[in-house]
Amino acid sequence: MQTSSAAKHDTFAEDVLKGLSSEPKSLSSKYFYDDEGSRLFQEIMKLPEYYLTRAELEIFQTQTSEIFESLNAARAEFDLIELGAGDGTKTSLLVDYFLRQNADFHFVPIDISAEALNFLTEKFERQFPALSMKAEQGDYFRTLETFQQQSNRQKVILFLGSNIGNFNEQQALNFFRHLGEVMNPQDFLFIGFDLHKNPKTILRAYDDANGVTAKFNLNLLKRINRELGANFNIEEFSHYASYHPTERAARSFLISQKAQTVFIEALNQTFEFEKWEPIFMEISQKYGVRMIERLAEKSGFQIVKNFFDSNNFYTNSLWKPAQNHWR
Ligand code: AVJ
Repeated sequence: MQTSSAAKHDTFAEDVLKGLSSEPKSLSSKYFYDDEGSRLFQEIMKLPEYYLTRAELEIFQTQTSEIFESLNAARAEFDLIELGAGDGTKTSLLVDYFLRQNADFHFVPIDISAEALNFLTEKFERQFPALSMKAEQGDYFRTLETFQQQSNRQKVILFLGSNIGNFNEQQALNFFRHLGEVMNPQDFLFIGFDLHKNPKTILRAYDDANGVTAKFNLNLLKRINRELGANFNIEEFSHYASYHPTERAARSFLISQKAQTVFIEALNQTFEFEKWEPIFMEISQKYGVRMIERLAEKSGFQIVKNFFDSNNFYTNSLWKPAQNHWR
């Protein structure tokens, strides 16, 4: 599909303009995932320092039957809907088990990227010839709204991989409230949260020894150079990661190594960087169990069960809409 349709391009340009005109300067982590960015993220997931993927995989591998029992207690037909499906490695473990249990379900991956969906569809069609599956490209909420209107089959919505971490707490609250509006009382939400732990362990995950995370961040400047005709000198920016223990937030920045001017053709504008000026790139919010409980309650959900890995590094939290919520 055309990844650089006019509309999409304009949004990217507008967001870059807004971010680099703000004080402090920022860029949105949602633009990390062009082809090279997606490849670098795959590399990050294999790093010894990046414990998140392994922790979630462990939960899916060792607690598959408990997860299935919790999700499918009613033994009814359901739609398994995944938001931002990625490469599907973790989901394939669930799908495989569900099929073996003869569960009556349809798999619906939703993603903005048609490319990612094509990849996933081909992989799953090969791996699971018996799977009923239909990928939906586009906005999560719009797609879910259509589902809510079209059928009253139970929906099990997956939001895995600590993708929720890219929202701060307030944004996460808004996101879940919005999701609640497109869910029915019998639906489930299954979310991957990275938990707070030794701050040094968290910091290392975002500041790996081989500099893959640094490359991942810098790749967004390359993308702006290529797609928006900018002249960022990648060598003059360096990756800086932080973890703030009371906020439980990992953040990453690109730091301008000298006073410099960058021109962006698509915006027909120059941007001044002071020496040591940061660009805020990404938040990776961590959670304590009490924070998760508060978030669920404030957004109108009830926690059915939290599944933990053996290190208690990570949890997959199963939610259902709270009864009698004022919403
Ligand atoms: C894909 C958002 C879960 O925040 O841990 C990995 C992205 N950034 N290393 C995360 C990321 C730097 C990742 N998420």
